[in-house]
Amino acid sequence: MYPKLIADRKAWHTQRLGIVGTLALTPISGRSAVDLHKQKEQVGAAAVDYVERLYPDRLKLGIGTGSTAECFIRGLARLKSRIEVTVASSARSEALLKELGIPVVDLNHVESLDVYVDGADEINDNLEMIKGGGAALTREKIVAAASERFVCIADETKLVRTLGAYPVPVEVIPMARSLVARALADLNAQPVWREGITTDNGNWILDVHGLSVDCPETLEKRIELIPGVVCCGIFAHNAANLALLAAGDKVRRLERTDSPN
Ligand code: 5RP
Repeated sequence: MYPKLIADRKAWHTQRLGIVGTLALTPISGRSAVDLHKQKEQVGAAAVDYVERLYPDRLKLGIGTGSTAECFIRGLARLKSRIEVTVASSARSEALLKELGIPVVDLNHVESLDVYVDGADEINDNLEMIKGGGAALTREKIVAAASERFVCIADETKLVRTLGAYPVPVEVIPMARSLVARALADLNAQPVWREGITTDNGNWILDVHGLSVDCPETLEKRIELIPGVVCCGIFAHNAANLALLAAGDKVRRLERTDSPN
């Protein structure tokens, strides 16, 4: 069962990214990986405009992880002189921030952040998400929780009616991997160990297929109560306040109605 599910996960990514072999240029549903990258740049730039307008003086930003977040980071370089501080959600994002000369500090050195900007693997119209495709979910949830607002940036294919077609990443303490996997199997799901991947926190990832994510907040809490689970990749408690979604050559805004301004 496990090898089949691992193959399914690869197929899922392959289909989403339009990757064939080492080339990422084959059109999928009329769209190439080049178009997809342009869309990521487009929402990255829209998020830079958004933080510039909302916080015209000094910026205190939480920074996400992944290819879309990296487009945001590159766009952010033009506001460098106005950035008071950033906190990164991964070593990978931290390295890019430093390379661009953007100040980045440890979360323990800041009291709060204005806004957290990050991508998602799936998002619903309530702005609840599945995250963790890049194995950074725990730090992402922490930095999001330290921020007043969460802006999700993604292309519109990530918008779904019900979360769960994308396997839910769960970060686990290594010694508890099998224990957690059995508890997840009891939820009628199929956990698959993302072998070879160790998180920035020294932990492992289980990708959980087949979960019914009808009530994201309840399921998030339930999974996070399993001993050995560090973090569940469902972001319902820390849902986004605003989503900027690339659709064709436009950026669509989706806002939570209970959001502060
Ligand atoms: C990393 C994440 C990313 O935000 C998510 O995987 C989306 O990545 P990308 O922008 O590359 O599609 O949660 O842990």
